[in-house]
Amino acid sequence: MVSAAPGPDALAALVGADWADAVRQVPREHFIPDVAEASPMTAAPSRWIDRAADPDGWRDAVYSDTTILTQIADGSLALAPGTRGLPSSSSTAPSLVAAFLALLDPYPGDRVLEIGTGTGWTAGLLSARLGDGCVTTVEVDERVAAQAAVNLKRAGYAPRLVAGDGAHGAPVHAPFDRVHVTCAVRDIPHAWVAQCRPGGIIALPWAPMQVWGHKVVLVATGDGRAVGRFHGDTSFMMLRSQRPVPPDTRGHAPREGTARVDPMRMTRADRGLEIALVGLLPGVVVGGLGHGDDRVGAWDPATGSYALAVRDEHGSGVEVTEYGPRRLWRDVEDAYLAWIGLGAPGRDRLGLLVDGEGQRVWLDRPDDLIGGV
Ligand SMILES: C[S@@+](CC[C@H](N)C(=O)[O-])C[C@H]1O[C@@H](n2cnc3c(N)ncnc32)[C@H](O)[C@@H]1O
Repeated sequence: MVSAAPGPDALAALVGADWADAVRQVPREHFIPDVAEASPMTAAPSRWIDRAADPDGWRDAVYSDTTILTQIADGSLALAPGTRGLPSSSSTAPSLVAAFLALLDPYPGDRVLEIGTGTGWTAGLLSARLGDGCVTTVEVDERVAAQAAVNLKRAGYAPRLVAGDGAHGAPVHAPFDRVHVTCAVRDIPHAWVAQCRPGGIIALPWAPMQVWGHKVVLVATGDGRAVGRFHGDTSFMMLRSQRPVPPDTRGHAPREGTARVDPMRMTRADRGLEIALVGLLPGVVVGGLGHGDDRVGAWDPATGSYALAVRDEHGSGVEVTEYGPRRLWRDVEDAYLAWIGLGAPGRDRLGLLVDGEGQRVWLDRPDDLIGGV
């Protein structure tokens, strides 16, 4: 009897013409563990997949638009039903992999650096398209890297796989024409710019307010800078050294503050607000933006200050609670009003500049920096 369970052709239809051959040549099944947690890109809930117990269900997940979680808590906890931990490695959903590969747009012969090997599937796709010799992939977790090497070998590919901190790039093997980042960053490491050829592209998930972020494409200008724009929303696990540090208010007594601005003005604003705040309120993590909720939280790790502003049901009052030395809610309001004063630019008018000094946000033109010099 022929199984009705799907195969690589199902993914070829998902990823578009440019990557269809690659997904057929690099079957995803070689990269997925026998037991894992599958999270479809649809509204369907996450579910456990077990190849031995339910081979068709396992295959359905592997050959559909599903992110498959393969590690939690950096491997310190076993991935098993009932065990909860911070997601630390996965095989990203094929449509998202394809979206980033389309932004990366490698040409034949391009040398690609991938940051975040994970299962190795994306590195395999790049190898199928460009050849093993053109692909270098860096994974911070040694056990994940070792398993990726096994997976890639099983699929018949052998890109250069480096176990190490991808924040440093792969200087020994630079320069690269393309840098493909598959974990989100809050601060873009300059090493990626420095190791990219003039005119080369860096495609990355940028999450200045952590995890839920923006697709970014930067182009290296050849003088130590890279300049780019935003290409929609995205969500990825963070680069290990840039994981969220949760607010810690211990040691500070709460105090009541007052509000001039309804927090819902901020949570319902264009995502350009969140981007502009990177320039207007450096180092501060502002949570809740873009979700339309009744509250905004702000955390300044440098001073240990935290502020929470909650709008009441009727919008007639806002309860502000602050901790730590900084009057953070006032600073958030000032930054919001500064954004309004710029014309409330949306994400489409904003861009990023990365150079040896760090990352800056610009409005309309790369030399018109927001809140920076
Ligand atoms: C979403 S997964 C990558 C998916 C992968 N590209 C694939 O095709 O399966 C993110 C990976 O980034 C890795 N990672 C996190 N921080 C890193 C760092 N500093 N350097 C290199 N890899 C890192 C994680 O260990 C994890 O395996």
